[in-house]
Formats: sequence, structure tokens, C-alpha cells
Amino acid sequence: MKVDEKDIRPIWFDDMSETVKVIDQRMLPHEFVVADLSTVDDVIRAIKEMVVRGAPLIGVTGAYGVYLATVHSETEADLMDECNRLKAARPTAVNLAWAVDRVLSEVLNVTLEFPEPSEALKESMTVARKAASAIAELEAENCRKIGEHGLELIQEISREKRGETVNLLTHCNAGWLACIEYGTATAPMYAAYEAGIDVHVWVDETRPLNQGARLTAWELGKCGIRHTVITDNAGGHLMQHGMVDLVIVGTDRTTGTGDVANKIGTYLKALAAKDNHIPFYVALPSSTFDWTLRDGVAEIPIEKRDPDEIRYVQGVDQDTTRSVLVPPVDSPATNYAFDVTPARLVTGFITERGICRAEEADIRRLFPEAR
Ligand code: MRU
Repeated sequence: MKVDEKDIRPIWFDDMSETVKVIDQRMLPHEFVVADLSTVDDVIRAIKEMVVRGAPLIGVTGAYGVYLATVHSETEADLMDECNRLKAARPTAVNLAWAVDRVLSEVLNVTLEFPEPSEALKESMTVARKAASAIAELEAENCRKIGEHGLELIQEISREKRGETVNLLTHCNAGWLACIEYGTATAPMYAAYEAGIDVHVWVDETRPLNQGARLTAWELGKCGIRHTVITDNAGGHLMQHGMVDLVIVGTDRTTGTGDVANKIGTYLKALAAKDNHIPFYVALPSSTFDWTLRDGVAEIPIEKRDPDEIRYVQGVDQDTTRSVLVPPVDSPATNYAFDVTPARLVTGFITERGICRAEEADIRRLFPEAR
């Protein structure tokens, strides 16, 4: 996507230095910092500490992690261990395991084709790097298509409102920073804006790490889309007063039966949307479906993160980034990072293959081959 006239992605491979470069998302919006990932440990740290975050981007970063593992591993057993460590870096987004396994299986095919170890090693690195960059391209293209399909929903609302502003609401950051290009939830917003539809986006701040206030607001602002940052608890009130036409969120893992894990607080937005008869859509590429699970609430692993993310708030004070303590110093905090919205509260999915209802049979209509 363009930032100040320059094309930029949240991750890329730098051929000169043979390192993986990422935008350090902890520093946005006030500082733009690029970090280098040169080892598997760098990748794991970047994923755990949320230098990179968002399901598709975590997957692509893990995929480049497999490339770095081929560079630094001496045996196949080492490589497998490194891949297992990569997959354990964050538990909820299924894209991580999906992408790591996809690159690993291509690498393992090479070891079968080249019995000579030194040749196999060289070829493995090339194959892993190409496979990781292919996943990045695939996710970018999937998001572009999600934008095309989601645009139809916004066009319909715009027609019904006779061209009046279409008010969208989103939670967390499911934008290009989380997904290589376009984003998932934001792709239809960008497409609508490009098509000349008058859109305005309510951006949930998304405590505790404020991915909405820091990242979604920054992305939308850079592209010129009108938006307003709101507290996480404001959505219900706005919906009751007819100020939201459509909710679109992303997801970190969605079961084949339609249950959706996404950033903590998504479930409450879905409940409020249902109560107010407002369509609640989830935008996702197929890499975010977990076809092995049927009951999202019971089965999707929910990440618990450091309570200090709740206790301290980061911001800028006179050009200096500072972290300040909010609750009493001895009050305990607990930090569930995701929740699960049951399929019954989801109006539909916007995928790269089109739109479907949040029901197993309709999801299968779009992805009949999935296992
Ligand atoms: O903890 P994060 O910032 O990685 O959580 C991100 C989200 O919850 C996004 O909504 C989700 O990954 C979808 S990104 C297209």
C-alpha cells in the first residue's frame, strides 16, 4: 500500500542483505521503524512481542522463519524442531501453523529429490524463500478479492441510503499492516472509497494494545478515508442510534462450522449488532479457516498475554514515547487476547471466493475441497 507516495508492505525480503525486513508495529503511528529478522529466534521474538501481528502477517513471517531455519539448521531434525518452535510463537492465529507447514512440506520434498546433502541444503533455502514469498503474494491477492466481494455489500447499503454516508465499524486492525496488502476487514472499505462511495469508519480503539487507535486509524488516515476513533464500549450506543450500517471485522481462526476467534471484544460487538439488526460480517482468507475444529468456544486456543499490557498504556508525550501505569500498583490484571463469536451471531463471511453465510454447508459450497 502507499504511505506518503511510497509503496510499502509490512514484510519483505531484502536480497542485498539476505534478511527479512518488517515494519515494527509497536512503534506506529508516531514512529516508523523497520526491523531486521536474521534468525529463527528473531522471528519468534517478533511474533511473540507483536513487532508483527495480525493473522495473515504472522503466517507470512513464520513462512520466512522456515527459510531462516533452512539457513541455520544442520539436519532435518533441527529443521523440524525450529518449525515446531515457530508454530508455538502465538497460539490463536491458525495462519502461523498453516504457513509454516506449507513451506516445510516443500522443503522436505527437496531433501527427497536431492540425496546429496550439500546440494539439498542449497536447494532447500531457495525453495523455502520462494515458498514464503509465494504465500505473501497469495495473501495479498486474496485480500484484493475480499475487497471486490465486500464492495458489493457496501454498494448495496449506499444505494439503499441514496448515496448518504455509509457508516462502517471495525475492531482491532485487520488492515494491510496485518495482511500484506489491502487487509481483510479494510479491503472492502478501500474498494468502496476507490469506487467513490462516501464511507466513514468507526474505529474501536481496541484495548489493551490499541491496534485500532494506533494502526487502523493510521492506515485509514494515510489513505484519506474518513474515520473516528471510539472507545471499545461505544459501539453498542452507536448501533442503538442508527449510526452504524455494517460491521466488518477480521479473524485469527474460524472453524468450518462458522465460529470466529478474533481480538477480545469482538463477541460483544456481534451481540450488539444482533440486538440492533445490523449486519455483522467477518472478512477472511481461506488460510484462516481451521477445518479440524467444530466448536470454536470449546476448542480454539485463546492466548493469554502479559497483564502489564493492561496495566500500562503507551503513548507520546512531547515527542517522547512513554508508558504509564493506570490501575493501583498492586491490583492484579488478566489479559485474554481473543474471544470467540459463535456462528449464530455472524451474518456472513467475505472470502476470496465470495460471500457465504456462517453455516457449514454454505462455507463448504465455497470451499468444497477443504479438509
Ligand atoms: O493480537 P493481534 O494484533 O495479532 O490480533 C489481530 C486481530 O485480532 C485481527 O483482527 C486478526 O488477526 C485479523 S487480521 C486480518
